[in-house]
Amino acid sequence: MALNDSFLRELHDRTDIEQIISPYVTLKRRGKTLVGLCPFHNEKTPSFTVYPDSVSFYCFGCGAGGDAITFIRRIENLDYVEAVKTVAEAAGMRMPEDGFDDTLSKKRNRILSANREAAKFFNKCLYTEQGRAGLEYFQSRMLSQNTVTHFGLGFAPDSWDSLRNHLKSLGYSDMELYEANLLKRSEKNGKINYYDNFRNRVMFPIIDLRGNVVAFSGRVLDDSKPKYVNTADTLVYKKGNAVFAMNFAKNNNGGKFILVEGQMDVISLHQAGFTNAIACLGTAFTQEQANLLSRYADEIYICYDADSAGQTAANKAMAVLAQTGIKIRVVKMTGGKDPDEIIKIYGKERFRDLLEGAANKIEYDLLREREKYDIATDNGKMNFLNAAADILARCGDIERDIYSGRLSAETGVTKEAIMTRIRQREKNVRQRIESEKRTKEIRMLTDLKDKNNPEREKNIRAARAEEIIIASLARNPDFYRKLRDKLSADIFVTDFNRRIITSLIDKLENGKGIELGFFADEFSPAEMDSLTRIFRLGDEIGNTPEECEECIEVLKNCKKTPTVKASDLSDEEFRKLFNKKP
Ligand code: UTP
Ligand code: MN
Repeated sequence: MALNDSFLRELHDRTDIEQIISPYVTLKRRGKTLVGLCPFHNEKTPSFTVYPDSVSFYCFGCGAGGDAITFIRRIENLDYVEAVKTVAEAAGMRMPEDGFDDTLSKKRNRILSANREAAKFFNKCLYTEQGRAGLEYFQSRMLSQNTVTHFGLGFAPDSWDSLRNHLKSLGYSDMELYEANLLKRSEKNGKINYYDNFRNRVMFPIIDLRGNVVAFSGRVLDDSKPKYVNTADTLVYKKGNAVFAMNFAKNNNGGKFILVEGQMDVISLHQAGFTNAIACLGTAFTQEQANLLSRYADEIYICYDADSAGQTAANKAMAVLAQTGIKIRVVKMTGGKDPDEIIKIYGKERFRDLLEGAANKIEYDLLREREKYDIATDNGKMNFLNAAADILARCGDIERDIYSGRLSAETGVTKEAIMTRIRQREKNVRQRIESEKRTKEIRMLTDLKDKNNPEREKNIRAARAEEIIIASLARNPDFYRKLRDKLSADIFVTDFNRRIITSLIDKLENGKGIELGFFADEFSPAEMDSLTRIFRLGDEIGNTPEECEECIEVLKNCKKTPTVKASDLSDEEFRKLFNKKP
């Protein structure tokens, strides 16, 4: 059972969403709405909009949206019930003691506490006979006792059941430990066997910003494979969302971070005093990680391994970070393959020098072009300077002056000639930037893709009809009586929209609240983005029962004939469907 409706209703009525959001976002009033810089992605012009009337928000830049509860869930990384508590407190209300379903929240808490106990167990093992090999491993990697304790490192014994037995004695069930991914299971003759996921490995707990142990990474002691075993996705952990050591790094570095590839690099950097080192754990750097970082970082030193895999990964990370507005510097590893090795061989001073010599984005781009050509030849020199001119044509006067000076010294071509070349390329580059911008805008405006509704693009006509029905009913619940006989969830074509209409019909049938906030327990914060987008359609559609009836017809026909792919629409059909001016 969900939170009781009358409580949610009162909460909705008493919630001042401006009061909820304004501690996080500076809001300016614009007519009936408020706008500010989106806290969920980095932007320079405000596209984050707050609608006090409907107690909701929507970002036209990144598509994040929802009600007050969803906002708090996302920005504070809380679960539903915890977020409701926060919003209720702000509204001066108390949570009812009963009448809500906190199974999920309880499960998450069990996983977190099992993880914490597991971390303690692994750490204790280091100092027993069973775990001696682990302690020796850390010593062989020059980690001090302090460092081992600071990071809560440990050892998982070479056994199938030692963690399982320990946690069982503390009252955790196999199922709970399985859901925490601390145990794995196998089936034999219809009988299920549970066994320890981490065996004979040194263990690195992964800790989130609130200090919870959300996952583990375990490394072999030798060269066998797989080198690392990591916690799979659980209720409390999603690979690609976490940033290793962010809990330590976030507050003591004046907005500067060092991004490295491995957790061993992070640990040895922290030990050497670089307490702003972080890693993104064996995944390509993701948008989620960039978003998390952009809340704390002004400048990131990318410090990936010297091998070609490392360089490719660095380029990808730069591409993701380039969109956030965070300043980027690229550190070139020389004399060792990774930061850990460099510190061990040459000491921390050497690493500090490398940081100081780190290239900014322009230098790095120039360097990459420079490596492509042989500038000892006239041809190579010309090609390189052309590529360099394209890079500098995107830059301001001061950068142009500095780098054309350097290029001149490097190639022997006069600075004036290089500056002329840059100016020649200006128009071309400006056009390219313009067209990149336009493409982005068009894609943003028509948002054909919806991450929560993968069927949408393939069934665009049906999906559009579904969304108009949902938006109309949400804004005009009185239409429901008229449409009731013709409308059922079965006629919906896309699964995601069918989930919304099912819930909406249930709420309308039972006289429950139908504002966005009443959907926040059934739909995840990420799904609320799509709900908000759909509910906001109310601003641009006809809002008549007739329009809904037409949409119902469209859906009934879609069931008979194949639906339309967005890519098959002609320009005219497209405009008709989306009512966009040509
Ligand atoms: P590396 O292979 O560079 O490991 O992988 P490392 O951190 O330098 O470890 P050492 O120094 O050899 O002990 C970089 C990161 O990629 C992830 C881990 O997070 C690792 O720290 N990784 C690597 C995995 O998740 N699984 C693997 O099998 C290998
Ligand atoms: Mn390494």
